Amino acid sequence: MHSENALFSKLTSIMQAYNAEKTHGSVVNYRNYSALKTELAAMQLDEGTQSWDSIWKSVETYLHYSVKTAHPQYFNQLWAGQSNAALVGSVIEVLANTSMYTYEVAPVATLIENEVLSRFRSVFGFNDGEAQITTGGSNSNYVALLLALHKKFPLLKNEGLHGLPRVSVFVSEEAHYSMDKAMVMSGIGLNSLVKVPVDETGAMRTGELERLIQLSKDEGCIPVSIIGTAGTTVRGAFDDFQRISSTAQAHDCWFHIDGAWGGAVAFSKQEKRLLSGSNLADSLSWDAHKMLGVPLMCGVLFVRESGSFDRVCNLGDTSYIFHESAERQDLGPYSLQCGRRVDALKMWLEYIFYGNEGFENRIDNFIKLSKHAELRIHNEPTLELQTTRWINNICFRSIVGDGVDSNTFNKQVRQSLYESGESLVNIAYIQDDLTIRLIITNKDVTEQDIDTFFDNWLQTASKVAKELTQCV
Ligand SMILES: Cc1ncc(COP(=O)(O)O)c(C=O)c1O
Repeated sequence: MHSENALFSKLTSIMQAYNAEKTHGSVVNYRNYSALKTELAAMQLDEGTQSWDSIWKSVETYLHYSVKTAHPQYFNQLWAGQSNAALVGSVIEVLANTSMYTYEVAPVATLIENEVLSRFRSVFGFNDGEAQITTGGSNSNYVALLLALHKKFPLLKNEGLHGLPRVSVFVSEEAHYSMDKAMVMSGIGLNSLVKVPVDETGAMRTGELERLIQLSKDEGCIPVSIIGTAGTTVRGAFDDFQRISSTAQAHDCWFHIDGAWGGAVAFSKQEKRLLSGSNLADSLSWDAHKMLGVPLMCGVLFVRESGSFDRVCNLGDTSYIFHESAERQDLGPYSLQCGRRVDALKMWLEYIFYGNEGFENRIDNFIKLSKHAELRIHNEPTLELQTTRWINNICFRSIVGDGVDSNTFNKQVRQSLYESGESLVNIAYIQDDLTIRLIITNKDVTEQDIDTFFDNWLQTASKVAKELTQCV
């Protein structure tokens, strides 16, 4: 049996070893699903072993086959790498294991959450409103939809959907799929979600929005919410928030901004013009685990009107947990969750280490690196940018010769790069065209890493092209 000291020493040495390796070698030791399943099954780890050897063996295997998301060739998701300040917060949070619902069991955590959210409220222009930490952008978007529905139909709280008129909710066709889920979870259904076409840059066509709202009203629906996106998932596009706000006011509906990804430009004097008009929104989602590099999950929902969360979340007989106090001190009644992790700690430590200026430099650096990537694509005769670059999403592809299907070719190059462990980038679709979506969101990535990525891409593309010629 390990003493606890030996256990923590072992844990520290595993962390140090992983940390030393996480930016080197392959991004991933790739195995396909069935090969990895077989390999893990061969470990024959039984339950109830009470053996630390089996624990360390499992940890070693876990880390060996995990994708190194801090690797400078990892460009796959809207989050990458992590900062050590926030990492300390994550570890300490787990070590002291508590739940955010009451001041009683989470005293410092409660004060930290209030403080960090109050500072971020002023960055995002929600000074007079309220905010909560959520399990991420999907959850924030869902809560925002509930707030809109309950504001419009106060009877919903007691009567539910019975007797509700037909409603409609509007979102751009390139918005995140969490909106579709929110429609289903809220019970109003997918048919009430109107997807507004986008322009050639990926931003919502606001003229179409107005036409579609009128159409839905003519059909007897009541518009409840318009959701604009600040940084769409694939292209990073920003909708026109000034215009959406006037439309929302004209039709008396809620205006929510999904800024889970691009909301972070609020920290940058240079880029925050993209959020112009967001001060008119009723609510805004933002994920600190994306551009800010706080370990997953760390979402925030800002709301303009104080008391909004109360309307939806403060329910039921809670006398066993929330006890009377002179001040409003428990955060539990304002959240959809009961038990809730102390995500505020990692966010707070990141904030006190870097501050707004550090975050601003980070965002500006992502944009600088993205311009570098754009230039590289521009200068490579075999590559093309597929859409306007808004922020740090770069959508490109290899140009293919006659008779070669572009989607198949680009998908194959990306898959080869992934399996070789050289670079990991994602694919997505812009209408019917497959695009390679390069995301620059690791604070430690350099111009040289971007160049290495393109060198890897071009070499692999020429290998795949040769293989294809041999097959013909
Ligand atoms: C625009 C946008 N909204 C919402 C989400 C969902 O965020 P989460 O993964 O935190 O639920 C994403 C995720 O990529 C996103 O890009």
